[in-house]
Amino acid sequence: MSRFNTSQSIGDIVAGLPKAADVFKKFNIDFCCGGHRLLGEAISEQKLDAGLVLNELDKAYEEAQRLKDQADYREMPSVDLMDYIINTHHAFLNRNLPVISELVNTILRVHGSNHRELFQVHKLFHSLKTELEQHLIKEEELLFPMVREYEQKPSNELLEEVRRVARETEDEHESAGGILKELRKAAGNYEIPADVCGTFRKTYEMLQELESDLFQHIHLENNILFKRLGIMIQ
Ligand SMILES: [Fe+2]
Ligand SMILES: [Fe+2]
Repeated sequence: MSRFNTSQSIGDIVAGLPKAADVFKKFNIDFCCGGHRLLGEAISEQKLDAGLVLNELDKAYEEAQRLKDQADYREMPSVDLMDYIINTHHAFLNRNLPVISELVNTILRVHGSNHRELFQVHKLFHSLKTELEQHLIKEEELLFPMVREYEQKPSNELLEEVRRVARETEDEHESAGGILKELRKAAGNYEIPADVCGTFRKTYEMLQELESDLFQHIHLENNILFKRLGIMIQ
């Protein structure tokens, strides 16, 4: 189901989503002088595939939303950004790591003899889980409180200490990213084999969700939070 429909006017769509202009250009739909027309009229006049046009508009919307979110994070004060990271991404891990652990155990038991790659998946996931559990505690109990303190009362000494811990944290991100890569490889790119059950599918879906959530989480910490604090990490 698209968030757009053919009874919207072309001009209104571009006014709400400037990126829609690129989509209309691509399909040769006039959005300037012909902006008062309904999208459906242009589609039928030009014998276009409505599903295809709506799908492209949805993609443009999602891309614009993603860029807007990034801009919002950049404007967020550090203290709010850290709260956001804890409430969103740390909460995601605290909620999902134990669930995925159970699932990985289950599919190893049920399918491990036919799918030997699951032994490696099990091992990699649990080393990632252990690393992340400690990493979250380090951020919540050590790094983020130091950053909060630095924001209130900056000093060179404290900045040095923040940088030292942030560098360690960044190394841990690097390590987690490496395990995620190995995990994806061990799991055959998360393609679901034909002979498995729903639990197997669910496990691979959750591992992929974990991967994308963790990428966004690390991006916010490395590229926005640390960078803003002038913590140049090598
Ligand atoms: Fe974090
Ligand atoms: Fe982190």
